Amino acid sequence: MANKAFLHGADYNPEQWIKLKDTVWQEDMRKAKEAGINEMNVGIFSWSFLEPEDGVYDFSWLDEVMDMLHRNGMKAILATPSGSRPPWMAEKYPSVLRMDQERKPYVYGARHNACYSSPDYRRKVTEINTRLAQRYGNHPALYMWHVSNEYNFDCHCPRCQKAFQDWLRARYGTIDNLNDSWWNTFWSHRFTRFEQVESPTTPSFLGEWESPNHNLAWRRFCSDHLIDFFQHEIAPLRQYTPNIPITTNLMHTFPGIDYFALGRHMDVSSWDNYPQWRGDERDVGISAATSFKHDLMRGVCDQKPFLMMESCPGAVNWGAVNTLPPPGTVLYQGLQAIAHGSDSVQYFQFRAGRGGSEQFHGSVLPPDGSTDTRAFREVQEVSTALEKLAPLCASRTCNQVALLYDWHSRWALDYAWMAHRGNQKYEETVQAHHTALTAAGYGVDIIDQLSDLTPYKAVIAPMAYLLRDGFAQRLTDFAAAGGLVYLTYLSGYVDEENLRYASTPPLEALTGLRTDEIDAYTEGHENHFLWQGKQWAIKEMAQLSTPRGAQVLAAYQQQFYQGQPVLTRNLVGEGVCYTLQARAEIDCLTAVLGDLLRQHGIQPLVTDLPQGVIATARYGEDGAEYLFLLNSNREMAQVQLPGCWQRMEDGSLVSGQTELPPFTVTTLLKK
Ligand code: GAL
Repeated sequence: MANKAFLHGADYNPEQWIKLKDTVWQEDMRKAKEAGINEMNVGIFSWSFLEPEDGVYDFSWLDEVMDMLHRNGMKAILATPSGSRPPWMAEKYPSVLRMDQERKPYVYGARHNACYSSPDYRRKVTEINTRLAQRYGNHPALYMWHVSNEYNFDCHCPRCQKAFQDWLRARYGTIDNLNDSWWNTFWSHRFTRFEQVESPTTPSFLGEWESPNHNLAWRRFCSDHLIDFFQHEIAPLRQYTPNIPITTNLMHTFPGIDYFALGRHMDVSSWDNYPQWRGDERDVGISAATSFKHDLMRGVCDQKPFLMMESCPGAVNWGAVNTLPPPGTVLYQGLQAIAHGSDSVQYFQFRAGRGGSEQFHGSVLPPDGSTDTRAFREVQEVSTALEKLAPLCASRTCNQVALLYDWHSRWALDYAWMAHRGNQKYEETVQAHHTALTAAGYGVDIIDQLSDLTPYKAVIAPMAYLLRDGFAQRLTDFAAAGGLVYLTYLSGYVDEENLRYASTPPLEALTGLRTDEIDAYTEGHENHFLWQGKQWAIKEMAQLSTPRGAQVLAAYQQQFYQGQPVLTRNLVGEGVCYTLQARAEIDCLTAVLGDLLRQHGIQPLVTDLPQGVIATARYGEDGAEYLFLLNSNREMAQVQLPGCWQRMEDGSLVSGQTELPPFTVTTLLKK
């Protein structure tokens, strides 16, 4: 398939340059081609240009832009403009403004701040999206829809209160059921009508802020309400352009939306990647965190190839301190995305504006259009590299190990009054397990509790605190059928409704343990255990359990619970469940997980990887097997390759001991 090509593109805001369009637009096209750009994201913040007055539309400039992109061989990812609305809209329809937790309306300004319950807003969005879909549905440049921008939601206006109450009514049926599910007899909080239930005011003390279940319900509602708005947004796109794929740009672990739930309504996952590279040994951790985010973002759309919709070809400008990424970063960052299953490398933005809060944000071109810049040269390098990798575009990942990240456990833990209250570190813990698995040489799929477990040989589920309906059974069945399950402290504490169990907790049979207590350590306080002849430190959390059939593989060495289990194994049918009772550091997790997976016959992609090096793989429909080696160190690393491979970069054959240059991604094709 000779015409396969990765998308290499950027956010492009030509309307900001409309008064200079005869020169600047032409120059942009020429320079984009010189940079090897083949795609542009347009129309993201164009509402005031598309609809300068209520009901008065002007698509002439966008017609020109779309035609120009097509003429120049570029694809357009066309946005709906709901990420930011024109000033006239709030003036004419004040309901489009959000209200904050103190029930005060916002005033016009900034972006990402519309009320998604506002009928006016919904109507205006439908109107403009319908026009965009009707007008550009058959345009040859239209490649994909980019819905809105970095969705978020938290509005406390009366309409949103009503929407929350309706959502509660639909979920609980009766107020009595809600009271029971929220344990509202506690502190005399029993409601008598749904209309009494208001949004919580966490973290201000204005109203309800302490009830875990009330807070959890609000998080779930906000996420569902946003997904409902998304469905409303895309209805005209689906109606008029059923064959054009739809995405919206996500923000990795953003807590406001269950991205797995949103992903089930999107065709392609895409996300905005802004690591703050440092040019020194800190980049090892930054690279690991970025790898985790890529795998998570691929996971939310069923492990299909995703898009890295934004990344910066220089320094961002919104940090407190905006460090310049050192030379070579743009290439590493771009190829890292490809290594994790992205089918694009895209930037924010093509040409920087002369003004606005992003006037000093890194871009492919500065406002004066210079191309003799480091950013431009590095973007060209990415383009050359992507051309060589073109055959692997659209190839898929196929990992044996699944890692669980579930927004509902994360939310519930945010409000769990115990251990390290308000700081249970769910995200950090899942990420630490991801880093450990990749350091042990495994490729990782990230899934949630509703995902299909059957494609995997192992499910690693750290801090699976809240068990959504049916998950404990599916996990148990997975183990019984021969799978390896790994759980940790703080697993299975509460049910779907965030209530503790009044009878045997459902994970007890799987873990072979009764969970008794959890100890939280202050800084500097440690415990230890021995594993494979080495002593490992335990920090922050230690759970105490009583075996109910599980075998103890390692025990605490200190505290009054010395000798009690830290690591256990429980045989379940054809499979096994391991439980780690305490928080250990990444090196320890790498050793433990690596040992357990290998004992279970699950082999890594590459063994004995040096620190800071990971491997990932993609597989073509034609049976081609691609291996990526990411060396995030600022120095050379060596790996021992399994079998014979061809470097995609220069066609040379490699096998055995192989050198990886500093801060590079090496792509190999299996021979
Ligand atoms: C993203 C956003 C872009 C731009 C960029 C700057 O989060 O989607 O519109 O603001 O940040 O880094």
